[in-house]
Amino acid sequence: MDFLQRIERTLEESLARTRQSGAPPRLAQALRHAVFPGGARIRPQLCLAVALACGDDDPRLAEGFAAALELMHCASLVHDDLPCFDDADLRRGLPSVHKAFDERLAVLAGDGLIVLAFRTLSERATAHPERLAGLLSILDESVGPPFGIVAGQAWECESHAALAEYQRAKTGSLFAAATVGGAAAAGADPAAWHGLGDALGEAYQVADDIRDVICDSAITGKPMGQDLALDRPSAALRLGLDGAVIHFDRLMQQAIDSIPDCAGKARLRGLVLHEAQRLVPTAGPNKVDRVALAPDRMHALEAALAALRVASPAASSASRAGNEAVDHPASGRA
Ligand code: IPE
Ligand code: IPE
Ligand code: MG
Ligand code: MG
Repeated sequence: MDFLQRIERTLEESLARTRQSGAPPRLAQALRHAVFPGGARIRPQLCLAVALACGDDDPRLAEGFAAALELMHCASLVHDDLPCFDDADLRRGLPSVHKAFDERLAVLAGDGLIVLAFRTLSERATAHPERLAGLLSILDESVGPPFGIVAGQAWECESHAALAEYQRAKTGSLFAAATVGGAAAAGADPAAWHGLGDALGEAYQVADDIRDVICDSAITGKPMGQDLALDRPSAALRLGLDGAVIHFDRLMQQAIDSIPDCAGKARLRGLVLHEAQRLVPTAGPNKVDRVALAPDRMHALEAALAALRVASPAASSASRAGNEAVDHPASGRA
């Protein structure tokens, strides 16, 4: 069975419990609408690919963690689309949950998916219960405060947000959890897997920013031009389209270079390359041109990227692992 089949089967199993007789039927429908049909399922695929690279000695646990990540991701999208955040009517080519149902059910469906994620993981830790505590903490750090998705969305409620920090929290945290958690679910040392998740997560959000500018809804399945309309920090708006594409290519290369030596290295490399092509293709009808920047623009781009890093010292993987708090003058965090 391939990764996608394992993921869909686990998600189906997890959602099945919400359809019991006596339960509110519209809530069950809203939960289903939020999860199926899925998008790229990139986070759970990445998780399973890392678990496999680490030996995958407990596939049920790896699937539970992968599905938990996807449920958290789906919950974040349902809440993100609400009128009080991005007010987006379209998600994955269909009406977003609050449009298909209503705002109250969208809030509840998001809440429900978050709880379901913990349940999905916990009940699959039967063969290796000693791994559960570590996995739960990887999951909750990636989603909850102070640096998980909830923090990413909360940066939008502040008057100033550093781009790298905002993106790391709202997107990077779940990618880092995918690689680190995939290793932990297979009983391997997760430390070596931070770099891949971090680089891929940052690249993914840069790609999303590029696509927000150049791809229409028919391609992305969601509204176009949201970042400009909502005045969101965006790599494409901050670095320019060409600069953002160069940044994306470098981050993807960094992701590939971060894959530790392991049996599944070639497969992981293939997954990363496939994602790079899917998101910002170098060929085909939706090809995004790569330009060589003039030296002065290249210099300006390097300076802008360096400023991003300086403005965001939490870029160290130690802080992302939650091991160390870092002062951040721009955010006022201590
Ligand atoms: C969308 O994520 C939100 C971002 C963090 C960029 P995806 O692009 O992975 O969305 P789906 O799951 O494939 O729809
Ligand atoms: C969403 O970020 C990331 C979440 C944590 C939900 P965006 O608002 O940029 O993503 P899209 O473009 O709606 O998918
Ligand atoms: Mg948003
Ligand atoms: Mg949005």
